[in-house]
Amino acid sequence: MKRPILIHPDPRLKKVAAPVADLSDDLRVLADDMLETMYDAPGIGLAAPQVGVLDRLIVLDCVKDDAQPPRPLAMFNPEILAASDELNVYEEGCLSIPEQFADVTRPAEVTVRWIDRDGREQQEDMGGLWATCVQHEIDHLEGKLFIDYLKPLKRQLITRKMQKLKREMARG
Ligand code: NI
Repeated sequence: MKRPILIHPDPRLKKVAAPVADLSDDLRVLADDMLETMYDAPGIGLAAPQVGVLDRLIVLDCVKDDAQPPRPLAMFNPEILAASDELNVYEEGCLSIPEQFADVTRPAEVTVRWIDRDGREQQEDMGGLWATCVQHEIDHLEGKLFIDYLKPLKRQLITRKMQKLKREMARG
């Protein structure tokens, strides 16, 4: 089932999400719902706070090539264990900040550990778009948005645009 995506500014997007203790069926349903919501948007990543749930869960699928099979990943309690000194710049966007994009610099490669939907611990080295996306989504669990990396003026400009968008959406 698709879930509504919160639009910035929203206090729930600024909160630190809590670690997941037990992998309940409810959490697996949440992961499935988040993947459905992400693919439908369409997007390549989504974090639980973006659907108003303050649990440490992110989903992503950064396979860009339509010829490749999809790779839906649900990560519970994801952690960056190591990050490369080498940096990468990507033009990032966010489903909570629609139609706004800006360059963000992040480590080019990261080692990530997480619990998968079967409760097994997984670890993987990620590069390219996967590295950028997983860092962006884990930031959401810390209440951090990609616009927090931008200069204050640019961030305020985007926030004002989003406030206007939300007023228009509320009016219907
Ligand atoms: Ni985002």
